[in-house]
Amino acid sequence: MSEPTPEDVELNVLLDAIYQRYHYDFRKYSEASLRRRVATALLHFRVASISRLQEKVLHEPRAFTELLGFLTVQVSDMFRDPTYFKSLREQVLPYLRTYPTFKVWVAGCSTGEEAWSMAILLAEEGLLDRSLIYATDINPEALRTAEEGVYALERFALFSANYQASGGKRSLSSWYHASSRAGLLDRSLKKHILFSDHSLATDSVFAEVELASCRNVLIYFDKDLQNRAVGLLRDSLRRKGFLGLGSKESLRFTAHSATFADFVPQDRIYQRL
Ligand SMILES: C[S@@+](CC[C@H](N)C(=O)[O-])C[C@H]1O[C@@H](n2cnc3c(N)ncnc32)[C@H](O)[C@@H]1O
Repeated sequence: MSEPTPEDVELNVLLDAIYQRYHYDFRKYSEASLRRRVATALLHFRVASISRLQEKVLHEPRAFTELLGFLTVQVSDMFRDPTYFKSLREQVLPYLRTYPTFKVWVAGCSTGEEAWSMAILLAEEGLLDRSLIYATDINPEALRTAEEGVYALERFALFSANYQASGGKRSLSSWYHASSRAGLLDRSLKKHILFSDHSLATDSVFAEVELASCRNVLIYFDKDLQNRAVGLLRDSLRRKGFLGLGSKESLRFTAHSATFADFVPQDRIYQRL
């Protein structure tokens, strides 16, 4: 094994310091992507080294909150990867429809687009009144935006195209109120979404659910943490419950693949055995 560079050591010390001081655990995130994000943070904070950054975030909680925005990736869109939502609509919801009530967990919900999309999907299928969506993330700033459900108006062109491609039954505009600059999602949806802080790295099972959706999150974790997170998601699922991962993720190389069956392989939707 090669000798660690000073930057390797500094990065490890930074992640340990963050864990000890703020209890956020980035120690098992994928190293290459963490390095890129820390490099961007150094420029933003105008500090010359990771050690300087560590000193700053250790002593300034507000700097840590800011750094969190760099360490986590907040990219999301409504009805992102539309075929995923189409498969949920056409293949998973017919199962869930047979339950009197059911719960959905959107883990790593970022700024909320996926959770609001899920609520629209359930509403259009006549299932929202008997369901509850838990939407969780580690980034408090993102959760605040998620809870507001207000997005810049120029983003709705893409959201609408995704919605139509996902088999949307109306026009997306019937689900939001547009002002000159923003779209506010329909408040009737919000009653069925519970936004909450939860870490797949440090917390335990969040709730018992029939469908867990965790997309574009595991890609940032190393193998061990992926196994931990998938274990949590599996333990949260009722028997025969569904797990949806993003198109970039797969269960195949995790320790839990034998406890799931493929359900919609092309959209990485699995069923717990
Ligand atoms: C790229 S976003 C994915 C958003 C949405 N699921 C989607 O596919 O559009 C990744 C999210 O994972 C969250 N995240 C990172 N580490 C996490 C952890 N340990 N537990 C829960 N969420 C985490 C980040 O804060 C970020 O909001």
